[in-house]
Amino acid sequence: MPSTVIVGGFFGDEGKGKIIAYLALKDKPSIAVRGGVGPNAGHTFTIDGRAYKVRMLPSAVAYKGCRLMIGAGVLIDPDVLLHEIREFDASDRVVVDNQAGIIEERHKEIDRAGEHSKAIGTTGSGSGPANADRASRILKLAKDVESLARLTGDVSMLVNDALDKGEHVLIEGTQGTFLSLYHGTYPFVTSKDVTASAICSDIGIGPKRVDDVLVVFKAYVTRVGSGMLEDELDREEARRRGWLEVATVTGRERRAAPFNIRLAKRAVMLNSATQIAVTKLDVLFPECKHARVYEQLSNDAKRFIESIEDELKVNVTLIGTGEDVYDIIDRRLTC
Ligand code: IMP
Ligand code: MG
Repeated sequence: MPSTVIVGGFFGDEGKGKIIAYLALKDKPSIAVRGGVGPNAGHTFTIDGRAYKVRMLPSAVAYKGCRLMIGAGVLIDPDVLLHEIREFDASDRVVVDNQAGIIEERHKEIDRAGEHSKAIGTTGSGSGPANADRASRILKLAKDVESLARLTGDVSMLVNDALDKGEHVLIEGTQGTFLSLYHGTYPFVTSKDVTASAICSDIGIGPKRVDDVLVVFKAYVTRVGSGMLEDELDREEARRRGWLEVATVTGRERRAAPFNIRLAKRAVMLNSATQIAVTKLDVLFPECKHARVYEQLSNDAKRFIESIEDELKVNVTLIGTGEDVYDIIDRRLTC
């Protein structure tokens, strides 16, 4: 498929990074472009036992053959971005949209010190205050920042041109559907809409240019920060089940709850999902760890996947069965 947008179906941290890294390595897109809020999101992927984390670059950085872009709707923390570009030796393949917004020191200070930010449990990355400035039309843009001068360009034009030529483009969303400023659990949400339409808008493509919408769910639900979490487990129970995770950006412990089919249905609706990925199936069903074909799954695990498909009426095309990017069952050709 020429263009696929990947978004989170719950509260972020569904494992989008691993799915995107896999898709990039497997499908070899010519461009991977990141939408979403900005450096408040941390994506992780593991290759050959080494974990890589990105907060600004697309997780498709795992595949060396594609150009890496960041859309106009995304906030840039220049320090974080430049650090990642060095770490991944990616300077010759990164393009930041001229009109991407810039997070400055004062945004981080406000985000870390403000009582309201604390009540919401923000990541402290400065994203909320920077988007507030953007709405006030006083935010600095990437084209105004000297340290980014060699990286900036017209991302929407580059992406649309690539699609005109029939090239494959991977569009990476961040956060999750119920952290959306519009459709999430307001006020315990992030500072922008983060559903599939918003991610497309972030990078400057219209709704008719998307061929596939892949919504990623984890096999259980986690959430960092405040806000409702239905059927939340207490910390000890979460630990016992192996669901107690630590957040990439903030180091905070994530709250946990069982898979929520009602939320999943709503996420399918809000994003118009054409495919679903379910990650960390091996955490629910340890006997499935490292499975790479569907037939290797236990009957319980298959029933879990089939019940999701029955309820959501969308195929589960990708199933994560371990940390490594290749610990995955890819059913895209058989579904
Ligand atoms: P902010 O986006 O830093 O303003 O934080 C608002 C809420 O969204 C907080 O509950 C954060 O923990 C949550 N949040 C923001 N980005 C992510 C993410 O990438 N993963 C998970 N939670 C996030
Ligand atoms: Mg994360």
